Parts: sequence; structure tokens; C-alpha cells
Amino acid sequence: MTTPNKVYLKDYTPPVFCVKKVDLDIRLYEDHAIVDATLTMKRLHEGLLVLFGRKLELQAIELNGKVLSGSDYTLDEEQLIIHHAPDDAIVRTLVKIIPHTNTELEGLYQAGTGMDAMFVTQCEPEGFRKITFYPDRPDVLAEFITRVEADKKYPTLLANGNLIEKGDLGDRHFAIWHDPTLKPSYLFACVIANLDVMQDTYTTCEGREVLLEIYATKQDLDKCHVAMQALKDSMKWDEDNYGCAYDLDRYMIVATGQFNMGAMENKGLNIFNTSCVLATPQTATDESIFRVKLVVAHEYFHNWTGNRVTCRDWFQLCLKEGLTVFREQGFSGDFRSKAVQRIEDVAFLKAHQFTEDAGPLAHPVRPESFVEINNFYTMTIYEKGAEIVRMIANLLGREKYRQGTDEYFRRHDGQAVTIEDFLSALSIGDERVLDFLAWYRQPGTPEVFGGFDINGNQVTINLSQKTRHVAGFDAPTALPIPVDTAIFDGESGELLAQKMLLLNKDADSFVFEDLPLNGVRPVISVLRNFSAPVKLNFEYSNEDLMKLVAFETEGFNRWQAVQTLINRLLLGESDDLSLLTDTLRTVIPTLMQDDPMLAARLFDIPSEQELAMAYEVNYDPSFVKAKRDELKKGIAAALSEVVGGWYQALPIVPYEDTPKARGQRLLRNVLLNLALAADLPQVKSWAYQQYDDASCMSERLGALSAMISFNLEKADVYVADFYDKFRDEELVIDSWFAVQARADVRDVAFIKSLMMRDDYDWNVPNRVRTTLNALAAKPTQLWSEEGLTLYFDALARLDAINPTVASRVLSQLGRWYTLDESRKAIVKEKLIALQGVAKSKNVLEFVNNMLNA
Ligand code: ARG
Ligand code: ZN
Repeated sequence: MTTPNKVYLKDYTPPVFCVKKVDLDIRLYEDHAIVDATLTMKRLHEGLLVLFGRKLELQAIELNGKVLSGSDYTLDEEQLIIHHAPDDAIVRTLVKIIPHTNTELEGLYQAGTGMDAMFVTQCEPEGFRKITFYPDRPDVLAEFITRVEADKKYPTLLANGNLIEKGDLGDRHFAIWHDPTLKPSYLFACVIANLDVMQDTYTTCEGREVLLEIYATKQDLDKCHVAMQALKDSMKWDEDNYGCAYDLDRYMIVATGQFNMGAMENKGLNIFNTSCVLATPQTATDESIFRVKLVVAHEYFHNWTGNRVTCRDWFQLCLKEGLTVFREQGFSGDFRSKAVQRIEDVAFLKAHQFTEDAGPLAHPVRPESFVEINNFYTMTIYEKGAEIVRMIANLLGREKYRQGTDEYFRRHDGQAVTIEDFLSALSIGDERVLDFLAWYRQPGTPEVFGGFDINGNQVTINLSQKTRHVAGFDAPTALPIPVDTAIFDGESGELLAQKMLLLNKDADSFVFEDLPLNGVRPVISVLRNFSAPVKLNFEYSNEDLMKLVAFETEGFNRWQAVQTLINRLLLGESDDLSLLTDTLRTVIPTLMQDDPMLAARLFDIPSEQELAMAYEVNYDPSFVKAKRDELKKGIAAALSEVVGGWYQALPIVPYEDTPKARGQRLLRNVLLNLALAADLPQVKSWAYQQYDDASCMSERLGALSAMISFNLEKADVYVADFYDKFRDEELVIDSWFAVQARADVRDVAFIKSLMMRDDYDWNVPNRVRTTLNALAAKPTQLWSEEGLTLYFDALARLDAINPTVASRVLSQLGRWYTLDESRKAIVKEKLIALQGVAKSKNVLEFVNNMLNA
């Protein structure tokens, strides 16, 4: 076993050389590529001239026009050190790389095969060093000129910036691109492909006319309309809300079917996973269509938060990711109900970030050390990072927050900066912002405990906080926690008072005076709109919660109250189901009209993974599943007289992409499942009918999923029909895999059979994730001997193919140590075995952390 090296934030030193200009020439051939790079460098500090490089075959090297011999430099697996470099150094290297066999999908790699083959790059965070030798760190910013040359069977030759020249070389051709903006190497991109392009234009508020281009295969071109509209909406939104306009003459998006993440914000040349750019109502669910809009916005917003102002080092990753996720959430909140937006963000945060923060892979939003930076593109960096910015923005209010971000861009445009720089700029109107640095340093989800005392017309809210001590970190300290609090009249439901309380010590009390209580016990609502990313334990009675569902003025808080009650039912803290079902019976009919999406979300039940967090020892997956199943059945039974009517009241209508229509589609699917669980007469035919009449993928897939989940006789026929209809649509076939793998009634052996199919391609992350994520979402199957064997076999295989994907898959096993002893022993044995065979730093870092738990 090898112990990979750790990198520490405290060891940061500024770069020794800067790069003024990069002249790159990338020539692609049948089975390799040649990269000829000239770096014009200038010394900033004493020290060695170090260039990073991985898996590069160095063919020639020159310094200031002189060919270097072996004794002039030192070369190892990671870096090239040039001895006796002068202050002005022009370094030219010629390297050979093999993109054709690069399965890690980092650096320059081939995606697709045969006619569909294309070559794309992924450089963030450290992929550029797999293309050429370079001071590959985000605080080295340079001007790039990129020449791309390839066979004419690849008509599409792209790189960042503006096209300055194109040329014919017989069978081959080339294009030269110039990016005038200074950028770190992680934002470099180039594409060599045979793609069609959808074009549009956008005129910025500064009057610049920008050519917008989305590149996709001929077959997929008509699926780019949603993304194009989202791009234009994002450009406008950023001008209106942050005063940020686009700065080049061209903005390109390229879709590829093989990509490790969602998308990448390379300057002027975004590269996207097809799943995050292609969408039509016929081929994508409402959820996937919305995700396309979100990801397009996210990558676009990076142009200012990430690209123009970038990170000094990778420890500051949340500087661009947390802020950009927050911006993306604001954007999408403007395109549907704010309540639903917040529900979705909070549900996601709790299901994924809270679980991460509760396990052995917990880390601060700004980590202090890492082994493999690719392992730190986590829920904590992105989602908790966004929550911190949200707390600050709420504290400041709209105007001061805008002043702060204006100041941030004014001070740091063109720079590589830190979290401290960000907080300092935001604090110009309010010094309390600086206290939020503590949130970036400390891992673990804070728990807030609270209750209240009534004294005449005065209510005192008592709050305290506690964060678990994560091994390897300093003892936790009290954080500034904004707790948005409202008080409602216990009878009329009138809003009596509202205030943003700031809990910034271990415990504190907050008094509301002179309330017109008239002897009636008021209803208190705390942590409204989830004003801080914490676990809340407030002494509500169950009746208080149900009153909140009726009284609360904001949809999110109504949802939160229902969720709290559902959690109590699941954790055995309450067994009065009727309180919940009576409330639903009352509120749903009105909500169905006003906000069907919120109506649908009121039926949310926390996932099994999320519920597992309640256990630190002796976690029994079957017990949790049984509780959850029982609750689902109970709700269905209690509402059996009404769900049929509710479902029937939502007939399928011609497709529309409005918040209301999307809400109705989601609600219809929720009700179909309830009706099936209640075993209503005729209900099976409803499911078949919904599939047959479907106007769009949400309706079709919703029906198919229900048929599978409830084992309907004709499910197999429909599964086959679905495959036939969409056999040429990779993304739809991904859904076909996922919808089956996710069903409880499909066991491990079935999932395994899916993974043995010819169309299960281990080199395509989207396909691989369909089954493995499904298995991870079914703890009773995952934590079985059979499930673990399948999962760990896949891990070992992926470690060799694609370490980034492998360690993400592995991270879903984080809370293994909470299982009972016998299950734990099986996992431990498998983790140790994996530790023995794994080669990648990515997997080794996580295995080691997990075994130390
Ligand atoms: N910066 C990208 C985004 O959030 C993520 C790319 C990360 N890629 C990776 N291989 N870790 O938009
Ligand atoms: Zn991002």
C-alpha cells in the first residue's frame, strides 16, 4: 500500500515565475497528438523553474532558443525542473500524448468512437499538465494563442477566445484562436470534432454583440433550444442582478457524451455533459430540462465568479463554486416559485451535504489539506459553500450585498484571490460578515436546539448550538447562525412578529415584547426559509407544526413543518399519522390549484440514506426501510378516498413549459404512486393510460416508474416498448437503466444483469452512474453481501479506468461504520481489499479516510 502525499494550505507560496504568453500548437494524428508549447515566462521570486507534467512523452526542450540536454533539467513522473533558468525564460517543449486511450477523461481525451469520435479537454483542476508541461496552478494567469491542427474528418476545431485564422493543409486543416483575457490553465479548452452548430446572438448591456454557439451532433442539434434560451436568460440576469456583462465576442458550448461532471466553464468555450445541455420535452423529464437551465446558468455565471476573479489555490475552490451555486439558485428562483426553489435546494443539501458532513469524508468548506484535489468537488464545497454566501447575503440585505459584490469585482477583477479577500470586500457595509470565516474552517453540521417561554405578552426564544468534533480538527467553536423567526397568533394565525435572530454564541435568548397574545399560546416558526444550514431541534408540539402548515405565509416553511412531522413519525417520536393525513387532506385541494409543485413536494419523504443519519451505531437498513414503507402505505390508505379524485382532476393536457404545468406533472406522478399504493380499483389501467397518452417524458417515465415499482403485469411490455422507442437516444437509455435499477422490486442480481449488458459501457460515466447510484440509494440492497460485492467489483474496475468517477462512487459508502458489527465486518474487509489493489490517489485517499473512521 502506498500513502499518497498531502498538500497543505499553510504551505502555499506564490509562484516563482509568471507566464506572460502561451503559444500552443496541438496536432492530432491517428493514434496520438503532438503538443508544441512555447511559454514566455518571467521571474517573480527566487526559486526553481518548475513545470508540472503527467504522462507526457518529452520529445524536445529548448530554453531561450537553445536545445537543452539531459543535465540541464530534472524530469520525474510529476514535474520538470529547469536548472539555472534566467529571469526571462522562454521555454519550448514538444511532447507526445495519447488522447485516444485516455479513459480518465482529464486532459485531452477521445470521447465516443467511430463516426462519433471527438476530442475534448477537461483541465480543471489539474488536467492541463496532462497536455503539456506548465506551471499548472490557478494563480498563474496568461494570454493563450492556440493552434489546433487535425485531419479534415474533424471539421470542428475550437479553442478559447476569438478565431484569428483558419488554414488548409490538404487532407488536414488548422485553426488559430487567441484568448486576450488572462486566464489560469484550468480554464483552457480545445475541441476537435465533427459537430453541427446552433447559433444565436446576444447584445450585452454594454453594446457588445456576442455570437452564441452550441455544438452538438447532427442528431442532437434540435435538442439545444432549451440551453440556448437559458444562456440568453443567464446573460441578462447577470447584468440585471450583479452588473456583470459578457466580455468576448463569442460564447461556445460543446456537448459531449463522455464527461466526468456536469459541465465546465472554460473561458468562452464551455464543455458540457450531454445530460446538462440536450433536452426536449419528448426526451427529457421536467427535472432534467430544469437541470439544463441551471447548469447553463452556473457555467455562464462562472465567467465573473471563477474566471475574471479566480482562486489563488485549490483550497479556495468554494470561492468560485459556493458563490456560483448561490447565484445559480437565485437565477432559477426567478423562473419558478421561490418556495419550490428553496425546497429543492434544502432537500438536496440535507440528503447529500449533511450526510457527507456526518461521515469520515467530512471536511471544511475550505479544506486545509488534500491528497487529490479532484476528490474535493464535493457537496460541502458547492452546497454548503452556497449556504454561507446566502447567510451573508441575507444578513446584508439586497442593497448592501450588491455593494459588496460590486466592490469584490472592482478590487479583484483579473486576480486570483482567497476567501478572506471575498469576505473583506463584502464586509464594507457590515463588519459582521468577517465572522463568517469560521463557517469556512469548521467541518460538521451545527445542531441548533431551541424552545420558548411565554410570560404575559412576552415571548423568549432560547437557542443553543453544538457542532460535533470531527477527528483531526480543532474543537468546534460557536458560529454566527442567522435564525429567521416569526410568531403567529395561535388561533387566527395572524403574523405578530418577525425577526432575523443572530445566534453567535453557544447559547442565547431573544425576547419579543408587547405581543397581543391575549392568553393564547402562539405558534413559533424558526429557521424560516432555512436561514442557516443547520439541523434544528425545536420544541414544537405536533399540533404547532400542523398549525404552521396552515398559518405560514411562505411555502417553504409549510413544507418544513410537514417534513418535521414526517421525521417524527419515521423516527418513532410520534405515531399519530392522522395529524399529517388530515392536514394533507385539507391543504392539497387548494394547493393543487395555486401551487401544484408545492402540493407535490408536501408528500416528500426523506430518503433512506438521509434517515440513516439518525444512527451512529447499529444502523439497520431494513428497519429504516420498513418504517418508511409503512409510512408510505399509511398515507396512501388514509387518503384512499381522495387520491383517485385528485389524480383524475389532473388529466393529461398538451405540453406546456410553465411552473404550473410542471407542478401538475409532478403532482400527477406522486398521486399515481399513492393511488397504486392504496390499490384503488382500475388504477393499473391509469398507469398504462398515462404512458400511452403521455405528451412528454415526465409523464411517460413517471408512468413507467410506477408500473415497475408496483410490479404491474404489463410492466415488462412497457419497459421493452420504452427501449425500442428510444434506442438511439443515449440519455433516454440512461433513464431506462436508472428507472429499473432504482425500483425496490429489482434486486441486486437484476442490477448486475443490467451491468453485464453490451450497452452498459464502463467508459461512459453517465451510464455507469445509472446503476451504481441506484444501488447506493437502496441501502438494504447495497449493504448486503451481494450488493457490496457488486459495488466493490465495480469500484476496482473504475479505479483503473476513471479515478474521478471511482472515488465519487466510493464516497457514497461514507457511513459504513454505523452499521451493525456483522455488516461492518464485511465492508471493512472489502475496503481493505480495495486499498490493496487501488492505484489511483483518488480512491486511496478516500479508502484511507474511511478506514480511519
Ligand atoms: N468547475 C466545474 C463546475 O462546477 C466542475 C468541474 C470539475 N471537474 C473535475 N474533474 N473535478 O462547473
Ligand atoms: Zn462550478
